[in-house]
Amino acid sequence: MTIKEKTLRFLDEGGVKYRLVPLPKDIALDVSAHMQFHGRSMKHALATMIYSTENGFVAVQRRGDTKVSSKKLREFLGIKRLRLVTEEELTSLGYEPGLVPVTGFTIPLYVDSKILELDEMYGGIGDNVDGIKIDPRDLYVVTKPKVGNFTEYEAQFMDKRRILSGIAPSGGFLHIGNYFGAVKPQIELQDTHETYYFVADLHALTTVQNKEELESNVTNVVLDYLALGLDPEKCVFFRQSDIPAHSQLAVVLANYVTYGHMQRMHAFKDKLQKGAEAESINMGLFNYPILMAADILLYKPYGVPVGEDQRQHVEITRDIAEAFNKKYKNEVFPLPEPLISKETGKIIGTDGERKMSKSLGNVIGIFDDAAVIRKQIMSCYTDPNRLKATDPGKVEGNPVFIFHDLMNDNKEEVEDLKTRYRGGRVGDVEVKEKLFAAHQRLFAAVRKRREELAGDGGRVREILVKSAERAEKIANETLREVYEVIGIKNKLSR
Ligand code: TRP
Repeated sequence: MTIKEKTLRFLDEGGVKYRLVPLPKDIALDVSAHMQFHGRSMKHALATMIYSTENGFVAVQRRGDTKVSSKKLREFLGIKRLRLVTEEELTSLGYEPGLVPVTGFTIPLYVDSKILELDEMYGGIGDNVDGIKIDPRDLYVVTKPKVGNFTEYEAQFMDKRRILSGIAPSGGFLHIGNYFGAVKPQIELQDTHETYYFVADLHALTTVQNKEELESNVTNVVLDYLALGLDPEKCVFFRQSDIPAHSQLAVVLANYVTYGHMQRMHAFKDKLQKGAEAESINMGLFNYPILMAADILLYKPYGVPVGEDQRQHVEITRDIAEAFNKKYKNEVFPLPEPLISKETGKIIGTDGERKMSKSLGNVIGIFDDAAVIRKQIMSCYTDPNRLKATDPGKVEGNPVFIFHDLMNDNKEEVEDLKTRYRGGRVGDVEVKEKLFAAHQRLFAAVRKRREELAGDGGRVREILVKSAERAEKIANETLREVYEVIGIKNKLSR
């Protein structure tokens, strides 16, 4: 009998419930790869280690987000000598390195108490063909291990809160207003949160109804984000249309919001106000918030970082989620928080008056030709009351200096320019020339990376495909849960 057969027989005889999860064929032999596949964080990994002590071998189980404190474990076991077994010793016990099963041990088993806080753990079963999902409380009723507290949390595996946001591919290169106002803060979240960002290509159809235009918009957004520092290792970055569950959940959710409620949506009312006939507004626009609710709720994020203009959409999402939860007396959907920062999205334009925006023509680009950017910077408004270079000028609220503060890495130079500007000892041209030079320094690497990526379509496609696989697992799991709650059993149900 193989280790796997022995382990399963042990579980079956004990009446322990479990589920085998077939693993992908070439999956790496390490815990984090497996947990990624299961779509669960490291804390749900049931890791088994075999130690050698002066009293013989022992098996020790801990959560994947913890590490054993050898001092605490020695005290708990009442022993002095403790070391992990060698490969030979492990083989002599009948196990293969990396493939120790979760149960069925012939040596004493000790379990860290943090495992018992969870009702869902994933572990190994003796080969790399199947993983096992199990409730540790069921398991330990049968095996009755000694439970102690001998681990500490491992900071790198602490659960990060989940964030999700969508990016509408509405066209054009990103400018520094987009970057400092939205993209940079979004990208910074990837280090502290579990981030899901996607290109809302289906949403773009409400306005972009030209094949080439839609294709190039999507490509541009993807390249811009990757070039600007979105790291596909840290962040799941995918295309909405790659995950059919978005469309599928939208069809379901449409039933829990009324026509009356939808009519109150700003995007719809704005159109009417601009003179459009209700009869001529396309249903994609009318249904926009329902698809957006599906986008969000599929991933059960705690927060959705968006601009102020999207607040109402997140609120409609919460309304739909609440209506659904209430109807089925279930908590399927946690209510997402809109994360709207006060400064975000409010970068002033080169006119010094209005928010930087493509349609107002007051932008400074990032990826445009150097000559274009130079012109944008040279035409930037400064202190309107300053007529000659020898007049003392105002630095506060002056767009040129706002941009210096944002982009110029040479802080000494910025301070020197400000002092001379206040004293009437520097001309606008020098201030702007130095701003242009700072822009070129800051974005040189980013521009180069974008060019490289643009020439490597294969790599970009691979990033999107891999991310879509990760996103789809989570999305389909939620969709399955929803179908089950509403009374639809289909191929997603296991
Ligand atoms: N409506 C958003 C925008 O125009 C894009 C978007 C689509 C979105 N689905 C989303 C944002 C889900 C946050 C969450 O910018």
